[in-house]
Amino acid sequence: MKCIAYVSRTTANERGINLPAGLSNIVQISRKRNPAAQITGVLSYRRGQYVQVLEGPAIEIDDLMNKILADPRHNDIWVFVDEKVTKRSFDKWRVSIFDFIDQGPIFKTFIEDHQQTLDAFTFEQKARLQDFINLGNNNAIATHSYDGKYLKLLAWPDLNRTSQPQLIMNLCVKLTKNPYPFDSLVASDEFGTYDQVTDIIKDFESLGILTVTEPEPSAVSDVSELAKPQDIPAKKPSRFYGAIKRFLGMG
Ligand SMILES: Cc1cc2nc3c(=O)[nH]c(=O)nc-3n(C[C@H](O)[C@H](O)[C@H](O)COP(=O)(O)O)c2cc1C
Repeated sequence: MKCIAYVSRTTANERGINLPAGLSNIVQISRKRNPAAQITGVLSYRRGQYVQVLEGPAIEIDDLMNKILADPRHNDIWVFVDEKVTKRSFDKWRVSIFDFIDQGPIFKTFIEDHQQTLDAFTFEQKARLQDFINLGNNNAIATHSYDGKYLKLLAWPDLNRTSQPQLIMNLCVKLTKNPYPFDSLVASDEFGTYDQVTDIIKDFESLGILTVTEPEPSAVSDVSELAKPQDIPAKKPSRFYGAIKRFLGMG
C-alpha cells in the first residue's frame, strides 16, 4: 500500500471565494471511482490551492496519480509525501472544502503518521501548506490580526461560489455602508468564532474586495465630538412662510 500527498494550484480563472469552477466534476468522479479502487484520503481546496492525500494499493494510486499529474485543471504540483505505508490515515474517501471550518482535525492522523517527513520541510514549504496543515512554525508565519480595525467592502463576492451564501451575505451587508469594526463582527457571534471571521475577512482581502482601516478618532464613541444642538444653525424661515405670516398679520 502507498500514500501520496500533493499540493497544487487551480488553473481556473473563474474563482469564487471558496470554490474554483469545475471542482464539482472532480468531486463527482472521485466519489465514484476512489472507493471502487480502495482509495481513501481527502481532497481539499482553499484560496486557489488543492491539497490531496491518496492512499491505497500502489498500482491504483500510481495509475490515478499519472492522470492527476497530467490534468490541466491544476499546475505547480508539489508531491510532498510519496511513501509505502502499512496503515491508512483516512478511513474513507472524503472531500473537504475548507472555508469556515477548522481543517486541523481532518489532517491530525495523517500529520502524526507522516511526522518525520513533514518536520523536515523548509519554512517556505511549511508556509505553502499552512492553509491546510499546521506544521508549527506559527511564530515565523505572520498571523493576520484585524483586532481594532475597521472593514469596508468595495465589491461583493460571488455568492454562488460560497458554501454559506446567507451567512456571507449578512456579513457583507454590515460592511457595505461605513467602515465596520472587526471586533463587532466577532462579538455578534453571528459569523462563527474569532478564527472563522478572520478567515472570511482574509479571503475578502485576498480577493481585493475589502479595505482595512484604522479607526478614525471621530468614529470612536467620543460624544464630545458630536455636534451639540446649539451648534446647529437655526433654519431660516423661507420667504414664502414670511409672506403668509405677514398676510395673516403675524409678521
Ligand atoms: C485536483 C484534482 C484532484 C483529482 N482527484 C481525483 C480523484 O481522487 N479520483 C479520480 O478518479 N479523479 C481525480 N481527478 C480527475 C483526474 O485527473 C481524471 O480527470 C479523472 O480520473 C478521469 O480520468 P479518465 O477519464 O482518463 O479516466 C482529480 C483532478 C484534479 C485536478
